[in-house]
Amino acid sequence: MHQISLWQDLERNDTERVINVASVPLRSPFRYPGGKTWLVPYIRQWLYSKPTSPELMLEPFAGGGIVSLTAIAERLVKHAIVVELDEQVAAVWHTIINDSGGGEWLAEKIINFELSANSVREALDHDTSSTREIAFKTILKNRVNRGGILAPGAGLVKHGENGKGLSSRWYPGTLRKRIIEITRMRDRITFIEGDGLEILKRYQGDPNAVYFIDPPYTVSGKRAGARLYTYPNIDHEGLFNIAENLKGDCLITYDDTEEVKELALKHGFCAKTVAMKNTHHAKMKELLISKDFMWL
Ligand SMILES: C[S@@+](CC[C@H](N)C(=O)[O-])C[C@H]1O[C@@H](n2cnc3c(N)ncnc32)[C@H](O)[C@@H]1O
Repeated sequence: MHQISLWQDLERNDTERVINVASVPLRSPFRYPGGKTWLVPYIRQWLYSKPTSPELMLEPFAGGGIVSLTAIAERLVKHAIVVELDEQVAAVWHTIINDSGGGEWLAEKIINFELSANSVREALDHDTSSTREIAFKTILKNRVNRGGILAPGAGLVKHGENGKGLSSRWYPGTLRKRIIEITRMRDRITFIEGDGLEILKRYQGDPNAVYFIDPPYTVSGKRAGARLYTYPNIDHEGLFNIAENLKGDCLITYDDTEEVKELALKHGFCAKTVAMKNTHHAKMKELLISKDFMWL
């Protein structure tokens, strides 16, 4: 049985209250557009409701990977498989998880980088085919681009936090700590660069798996995901076709639109809105989709 939750930040049925993300340990080296740090208390509640820790969590749209990282760090699941299609993001996960010594290399590279307008420009213009170097460029870009956006066309931070400009999100010591923490858990995480839908299909018959599915939000064609990600387009109907046949339990997140609710209902899911704050601190609703919400 799971231990009783030590976290008091989510009351049962309290889906109206915005989660205070300051109460959630930040474990990802990314600040990810559409990141799910705010969802962590729900993830804990979902996984604590299981009689035993699931053998496997599959996260087919990893991005910054905060959900799998939390589930592994807090031993809410035994193993996690995370999948990402974007080669820039994948380079980071390959380096930290699949490359022995890669995480340590990346952490040192970050610590030794002297950030200035010139050094940023030079580093980002540097053409390289080395996965480690691409990983470094990705982390740098993620930290100096407005909103952490890695997709083409994203601009640099202008004023940043407290007018600190480019350096406002560059915390080398914190990044090193997070990266090293992940390297310590790497035997419990598998990273796959590829199409999340394919991998989901591959593992669909596993009754001991749980699936956390957070796709780009592009159902109506013009929603948020379209400008945030290099790969914003997925087959949403195809995703629901696979999801309804998963043997294990799944939790899907989407933006709160009528099209998504219809899609969910059509495929036999329930949908529930939860409160969150977007990057501009505006209170919004997002949609949680699952077979049932007995745990919430
Ligand atoms: C909403 S974001 C995930 C955010 C993540 N949950 C977090 O907390 O950081 C969706 C991610 O799916 C990725 N993606 C898009 N199409 C994909 C595909 N076919 N397979 C795997 N990943 C994909 C995007 O690059 C993006 O990183």
